Amino acid sequence: MPTALIIGASRGIGLELVKQYRADGWRVIATARKAEDCTALTALGAEAHKLDVTDVEACAGLGWKLDDEELDVAFLNAGVYGPRHDGFPQQSDFDSVMHTNVLAAMRLLPIIAPMVASKRGKLAVLSSHMGSLSERSNPSGSLYRASKAALNSVLIDTALVHGPQGATCVAFHPGWVRTEMGGAGADISPEESAAGMRHTLATLPASEIAVYRNYDGKPIGW
Ligand SMILES: NC(=O)c1ccc[n+]([C@@H]2O[C@H](COP(=O)([O-])OP(=O)(O)OC[C@H]3O[C@@H](n4cnc5c(N)ncnc54)[C@H](OP(=O)(O)O)[C@@H]3O)[C@@H](O)[C@H]2O)c1
Repeated sequence: MPTALIIGASRGIGLELVKQYRADGWRVIATARKAEDCTALTALGAEAHKLDVTDVEACAGLGWKLDDEELDVAFLNAGVYGPRHDGFPQQSDFDSVMHTNVLAAMRLLPIIAPMVASKRGKLAVLSSHMGSLSERSNPSGSLYRASKAALNSVLIDTALVHGPQGATCVAFHPGWVRTEMGGAGADISPEESAAGMRHTLATLPASEIAVYRNYDGKPIGW
């Protein structure tokens, strides 16, 4: 039975990934930061672990808990948008967005990547098209854009270390998705986004270097 790890699975895209992999008969390990969300994940048949990705000890603790796991697929999904305005940036907003979207990846990806490499599996991060430097035409959401560009950089470095060992590293734009972050007016449902990313991962050839993909598999320029 293949195994998937979903980090940040309480709601939105992460929760939908858990539901779809379980429905396909996969073993699913999932994390959430609230106890009640872990209980709900367990009820879905997942093995749930409590994890706030900004908690350094909890990140290290996840590594101990998952020791010796071999993962076919792992998604680092947890993320925040931050302020919806582009006024003078506040330090607290910067710290919150960068801590959740970037520093957590710098801590968690080195823990998870060897578990993925051991199965020659796929390691995905929920980036965004807003993180693309080469395809950028709109400056709104500057802090979020910077965080996702930095996340892409962390993933590229992860692939340089763990790609040759067998981990195929993928930065995803999940689409503009109807979640709390994406809002009710977004283009696609979490079901479509999760199904697209799962299909893209399942059909993507192994790669030693990181790739950047839309949820439907179309390449995005870094
Ligand atoms: N929706 C879109 O249109 C869109 C577009 C591009 C990229 N993305 C990316 O896709 C990912 C998922 O987005 P979404 O739309 O599903 O967002 P969402 O509905 O706002 O869900 C965000 C998820 O991240 C978790 N999270 C946030 N901070 C966390 C922390 N410190 N520790 C652990 N978990 C944390 C949340 O957990 P809690 O419930 O505990 O808060 C929740 O499970 C994000 O990385 C986002 O940037 C989304």
